[in-house]
Amino acid sequence: MFGELLIAILAALLSHSQDVSHADTAQCKCIPSEACWPTQAEWKSLNDSVLGQLIANTPVAAVCYPGHQYSAGQCATIDALWTNTTFQQNQPLGYSYPLSVPCPPVVVSDGEVPGNCSFGNAPAYTVNATTIEHVTKGIAFAKKHNIRLVKRNTGHDALGRSTGYGSLQIWIRYLRTGITFHEKFTASPSLWNGSAFTIGGGYVWNDVYPHATSRGLVVVGGGTPTVGCIGGWMQGGGHSPATRDFGLGADQVLQAQIVLANGSLVTVGPLQHPDLFFAIRGGGPGTYGVVVSTTVKAWPTTNVVVQTLAFAPLTAGFVPHFMEALTDLYAAYPALSDGGWWVVLDFVIL
Ligand SMILES: Cc1cc2nc3c(=O)[nH]c(=O)nc-3n(C[C@H](O)[C@H](O)[C@H](O)COP(=O)(O)OP(=O)(O)OC[C@H]3O[C@@H](n4cnc5c(N)ncnc54)[C@H](O)[C@@H]3O)c2cc1C
Ligand SMILES: *[C@@H]1O[C@H](CO)[C@@H](O)[C@H](O)[C@H]1NC(C)=O
Ligand SMILES: *[C@@H]1O[C@H](CO)[C@@H](O)[C@H](O)[C@H]1NC(C)=O
Ligand SMILES: *[C@@H]1O[C@H](CO)[C@@H](O)[C@H](O)[C@H]1NC(C)=O
Ligand SMILES: *[C@@H]1O[C@H](CO)[C@@H](O)[C@H](O)[C@H]1NC(C)=O
Ligand SMILES: *[C@@H]1O[C@H](CO)[C@@H](O)[C@H](O)[C@H]1NC(C)=O
Ligand SMILES: *[C@@H]1O[C@H](CO)[C@@H](O)[C@H](O)[C@H]1NC(C)=O
Repeated sequence: MFGELLIAILAALLSHSQDVSHADTAQCKCIPSEACWPTQAEWKSLNDSVLGQLIANTPVAAVCYPGHQYSAGQCATIDALWTNTTFQQNQPLGYSYPLSVPCPPVVVSDGEVPGNCSFGNAPAYTVNATTIEHVTKGIAFAKKHNIRLVKRNTGHDALGRSTGYGSLQIWIRYLRTGITFHEKFTASPSLWNGSAFTIGGGYVWNDVYPHATSRGLVVVGGGTPTVGCIGGWMQGGGHSPATRDFGLGADQVLQAQIVLANGSLVTVGPLQHPDLFFAIRGGGPGTYGVVVSTTVKAWPTTNVVVQTLAFAPLTAGFVPHFMEALTDLYAAYPALSDGGWWVVLDFVIL
């Protein structure tokens, strides 16, 4: 009896897995080595439709490697800027530490030949979107040609969710329709009656903080001001020095604009597309369309006391004590939080 049941279950599982693998093959995305990959003429037509904003990607440090792009001078410049976050953010394929880049800058001494510069899992093309129409065109092209679509804002994502082999990347860094202040913003009276800012595109918190500070207001943004406002930070939750007092980044969003997979631009809020409004606020980035603006709460500013504690093991022998001290610190977090402190731990790896 059990044997028969087991066989029945196995048979069901097997037929299921066959169905799945069949479906997977049918739905595989097209990659650059395949005949289905768009032709040069098709890429050109996409480029024309986005008014020349299409980039054929090359690794940031390609100039350091043998080939037509090689330039010792440019390579030295890139090497010097490599750990500069702003510099990386301005490159279509620039990523933040600790994402490992397959093609790092190498300063080659005479006679030495570096390995080949591999593209790794980087997207093949980038739509450097400056308008919502560019976003729409990019989505339509990827859909029509069955190629993978990647959304990129700052390239900060340590899980690599803003990269992907053989894809078309939509880059929103230069999609900037303005930072607009609302003295009073009421998407729904039960949600908020106070001030708010609409962040129209790929701004980082560094761009937004001065608008709030100059009005005696505070917005809940990244502790590191180079994090993007409307992308992975908010859609993944969003931690802030102000979270202890005002909640997570996702809790701040009163309304958003999203380009859906079908190309439509929708406004989502507590009363419009409430399911989508719920999903983007912490439901995981890059999943529910391309967010092109958010409207976030602005709070009256408040005075805070800041204290920084830095400690490090000065010798290898001290590491066990360091770990013990770290454990004590972690254990104190709940009490510190109950006492009104927001605590952040920054690791510096030397
Ligand atoms: C230096 C540094 C400091 C950080 N500081 C903080 C911090 O203080 N608090 C905190 O909570 N986190 C922090 N993080 C983590 C950061 O919030 C996440 O890495 C986040 O995913 C980055 O989002 P992004 O949009 O800036 O980056 P990206 O890497 O460009 O994108 C991240 C994800 O969001 C998706 N995405 C981007 N734009 C859109 C869009 N418009 N619509 C839909 N999906 C989109 C991408 O596809 C990807 O999945 C930090 C990371 C770094 C590298
Ligand atoms: C897109 O067009 C612009 C302007 O003509 C050009 O500079 C750019 O190289 C083109 N991109 C690609 C991928 O051909
Ligand atoms: C980092 O790079 C940006 C943009 O390339 C530049 O403006 C800035 O001066 C650089 N910062 C440092 C510390 O080099
Ligand atoms: C680089 O790639 C070329 C062409 O594929 C190959 O012939 C060469 O051996 C590679 N060099 C290194 C150092 O891997
Ligand atoms: C992307 O577009 C913006 C706006 O046109 C431009 O300033 C920037 O240089 C472009 N970036 C790249 C890498 O081409
Ligand atoms: C906003 O104002 C309305 C009307 O005065 C009130 O009923 C509601 O509770 C307020 N909402 C918030 C979040 O304060
Ligand atoms: C796209 O989907 C949304 C939500 O289902 C719908 O409201 C809209 O009409 C659709 N747009 C197109 C062009 O089909």
